[in-house]
Amino acid sequence: MTAVSLNVNGRRLSADIEPRTHLADFLRESQNLTGTHLGCEHGVCGACTLLVDGSPTRSCITYAAACENAEITTIEGLDDDEVATELRAAFREEHALQCGYCTPGMIVSARDLVLRLETPDEETIRVAMSGNLCRCTGYVGITRAVQKVITDRRGRGIAAIPGAGRKRLGPAGSRNASGLAPAAAAPQAVKAQAKPAAKAAAASGAPRLDEDWKPQATLSQTFTVSHPADEVWAFFGDIRGVASCLPGASLDSVSEDGHVEGRMRVKVGPISAEFGGVADVTRDEASRTGTINGAGKDQKSNSATRGLIRYAVSKAEGGGAKVDVDVGYALTGMLAQFGRSGLVQDVANRLTAAFVQNLEARLAGGDAAEAAPVKELDAGSLVFSVIKGWFGGLFGKLFGRR
Ligand code: FES
Ligand code: FES
Repeated sequence: MTAVSLNVNGRRLSADIEPRTHLADFLRESQNLTGTHLGCEHGVCGACTLLVDGSPTRSCITYAAACENAEITTIEGLDDDEVATELRAAFREEHALQCGYCTPGMIVSARDLVLRLETPDEETIRVAMSGNLCRCTGYVGITRAVQKVITDRRGRGIAAIPGAGRKRLGPAGSRNASGLAPAAAAPQAVKAQAKPAAKAAAASGAPRLDEDWKPQATLSQTFTVSHPADEVWAFFGDIRGVASCLPGASLDSVSEDGHVEGRMRVKVGPISAEFGGVADVTRDEASRTGTINGAGKDQKSNSATRGLIRYAVSKAEGGGAKVDVDVGYALTGMLAQFGRSGLVQDVANRLTAAFVQNLEARLAGGDAAEAAPVKELDAGSLVFSVIKGWFGGLFGKLFGRR
């Protein structure tokens, strides 16, 4: 892994990445900046275009490790940009998009033209935009939209800026990113870093998962259970019992030292995934806290997940038990598009509600399966209901509904 620090949309961030990771994957999968689209992934279609040190750049053929200290601006970072705002309006007016897949890259490239070219004719715009391919709309509307913004701006007395105001020629990889670290300047010379924390072998013989990984996102949950804290804490020591309360979870093996192997079935719309994985479970009797450190992979969707859950059980005011849960997680692959923290938080709320319902049933001596007979976590319906809720709120705001 290679340590890299860079500025993305004005935010400084650091990460450990594989030297071969391209910038688009890094931004999409670990930063949730999915406005940068991927089409060909070999530098031809322009869908992945973003700005590196102010220069339009193909992020699918740019190593993230080569961007040490670079200023990266994605389409999300152009939300309040004056030229991008005018381009978005012109794209709408001129019908310059249908599916919108190429549009983020188009806007980034077009913005550069608007800034740079004084009064380009149609042919000049077509040639200048020829590095961005559109598979469904065609180029008439796109060319008109770009020309409209340029004409409007010149009409308002806003002149072109030579070189779009760039003080250095980018992009990353040309060593113009300030303070380029040797590791980034010569990725092939990157020394393999020491493997993080030697993995201690558990009594089960299985290697322990590293605990020092950095989650992409975190969320917190608190819930109460009507049964006494002593009873809830004791139940949490029964790993199979806890798993039976989690929709979609099943266990293959549980060893005495808390090493668990199992699977989690998840359905998101047409995608059915079965994450097979391992987890290490620890408990501290004195503080009534515990951790679940897990990792899983679904072969079919090529998605992987990593999570560290910390929980604490205490007495709730007025009786019963209070459980505080902190979750750090990372999701990569096809299902990463559902990893936005707001969406995950809402899905977690619903998952927790199902878990608590099952837990109450188990503690009352019943069967969890009877309380909520869910053998597969249908995140699709959860996500759908969340999205429906969001739209309901949005329409409420727009039309003043309360
Ligand atoms: S995805 Fe980068 S150029 Fe096509
Ligand atoms: S609008 Fe669909 S690919 Fe361009």
